[in-house]
Amino acid sequence: MSADPASETAAATESAPKRARGRERERRIDRRSLLRPGDGPMVVFDKVVKRYAEDATGLDGVSLSIESGEFVFLVGASGSGKSTFIRMLIREIEPTEGRVMVGGRDLAKMRRSKIPYLRRGIGCVFQDYKLLTGRSVYDNVAYALQVTGDAPRSIRRKVPEILNLVGLSDKADRLPGELSGGEQQRVSIARAFVNHPRLLIADEPTGNLDPDTSIGIMQLLYRINRTGTTIVMATHDRELVDKMQMRVIALEHGKVIRDQRQARYARAES
Ligand SMILES: Nc1ncnc2c1ncn2[C@@H]1O[C@H](COP(=O)(O)OP(=O)(O)OP(=O)(O)O)[C@@H](O)[C@H]1O
Ligand SMILES: [Mg+2]
Repeated sequence: MSADPASETAAATESAPKRARGRERERRIDRRSLLRPGDGPMVVFDKVVKRYAEDATGLDGVSLSIESGEFVFLVGASGSGKSTFIRMLIREIEPTEGRVMVGGRDLAKMRRSKIPYLRRGIGCVFQDYKLLTGRSVYDNVAYALQVTGDAPRSIRRKVPEILNLVGLSDKADRLPGELSGGEQQRVSIARAFVNHPRLLIADEPTGNLDPDTSIGIMQLLYRINRTGTTIVMATHDRELVDKMQMRVIALEHGKVIRDQRQARYARAES
């Protein structure tokens, strides 16, 4: 991207028709994010099987549905299929059998050219943050808005707002390498949430963090969920899951062995 002070000035003194075009562009992007949460469940898995190879099964007949606005923990031992499940939601992995619906859309029927729009409509948070290491905190978050075509003025408004939400207003100019792990994860959550996605997926977001920092990250995700965003989070963190008392879907060898509301990590002893 070229630095062009002239265009910056032009953006600040936009004419009315230009502003109208900007609003139309935002609406277009909204429509193109492809999720239709009003039409029923946010996520539906229907007899989903994923075989990586003859002797490597990721998911083995998973059927479930997640309503709009839910907070769901996916738990299970290493290799039980949690990441396979999460990555199917952005069609990074396609099922061998069965059907995956997200926001009312059958992902198998979505044209390949539409997949980037699907992914822009879903916030993603990973264990290893995946930040742009050479860019500041501010730029990491701004980038998520630039790719969806936000106008410079709207970016200048939204980035400070979201950095304030995650408690990093004073670190906007730092590089990711100059932050703690917990702070880096907060940047990645800011980036995932700045577009206000209807669905946010998180794969072991607290996997590299100490217990206190993990609780801070969890509180942030909880606040995001309270705004109406559906959250699906894979985790090994028994203590966190027990504290939150949310819906727990437990996987074992690619099968759902438990799906329970207001639950703990492990089945309560009877
Ligand atoms: N690219 C791949 N090729 C072959 N097998 C794979 C591949 N990815 C995953 N698997 C297998 O699929 C199963 C489920 O893997 P998955 O990564 O979904 O587990 P997970 O629950 O996320 O584990 P972890 O807690 O270790 O992250 C495992 O047996 C794994 O070995
Ligand atoms: Mg995993």
